[in-house]
Amino acid sequence: MLNVDAIDLHYGAAQALRGVSLTAEVGQVTAVLGRNGVGKTSLMRAIVGQQPVSKGAVRLAGEDISRLAPYDRARRGIAFVPQGREIFPLLTVKENLETGFAPLKRRDRHVPGEIYDLFPVLKDMLHRRGGDLSGGQQQQLAIGRALVTRPRLLVLDEPTEGIQPSIIKDIGRAISYLRSKGEMAIVLVEQYFEWARDLCDAYAVMDRGQVVEAGPRSGMVEAQVRRWLSV
Ligand SMILES: Nc1ncnc2c1ncn2[C@@H]1O[C@H](COP(=O)(O)OP(=O)(O)O)[C@@H](O)[C@H]1O
Ligand SMILES: [Mg+2]
Repeated sequence: MLNVDAIDLHYGAAQALRGVSLTAEVGQVTAVLGRNGVGKTSLMRAIVGQQPVSKGAVRLAGEDISRLAPYDRARRGIAFVPQGREIFPLLTVKENLETGFAPLKRRDRHVPGEIYDLFPVLKDMLHRRGGDLSGGQQQQLAIGRALVTRPRLLVLDEPTEGIQPSIIKDIGRAISYLRSKGEMAIVLVEQYFEWARDLCDAYAVMDRGQVVEAGPRSGMVEAQVRRWLSV
């Protein structure tokens, strides 16, 4: 479904990605691991179109989408749960979910009930402001908002960052469920080795703007991967 092919990415003169490749298949979770500052978020921005690539290509189902704006990628089925969640604090939960409607045709503009099954708290708090939710509830809202578009590719950037263990479990269950449905490819950026390993089918480890290790989950050797994660 997703094919990132040898991309470079720059912020001005500073190079954040060097020849990075990554694939993600429908019905699978691809975990991207690595320390802070190695380029994980830059890679996700390149995939969703928030940051242009200076070399290489991003392909979705064979189509080169490297030059498309984020909106056009969203219309092709890419949904993004950004690091830090970026929900709207003054909008209600319902309104936050509805901001996900933008790339949808009018007839598709409804919130799938499944989102409330995955995250019942969103239904309970539908008319509360986003800013009144806890960090973990906001993360569930950010995932719900992404699912409103019924994506073919779901990109999650550190969804467990700063979140309490019980909600991390809920989010893990939701990702497993979405994976098992077999309708979307999932790219999951994570810093926690065990959580990522338990959820993923394939993995890539980044360091200093490059992929330094990648492959199927079966080839994920804990000690080897942890070398890249420890400070
Ligand atoms: N908007 C930006 N402008 C300039 N440099 C940036 C910007 N965003 C990230 N960087 C730099 O790019 C590198 C990779 O950052 P990032 O992709 O956020 O890494 P990670 O998500 O792995 O922590 C870091 O050196 C960071 O300082
Ligand atoms: Mg990041």
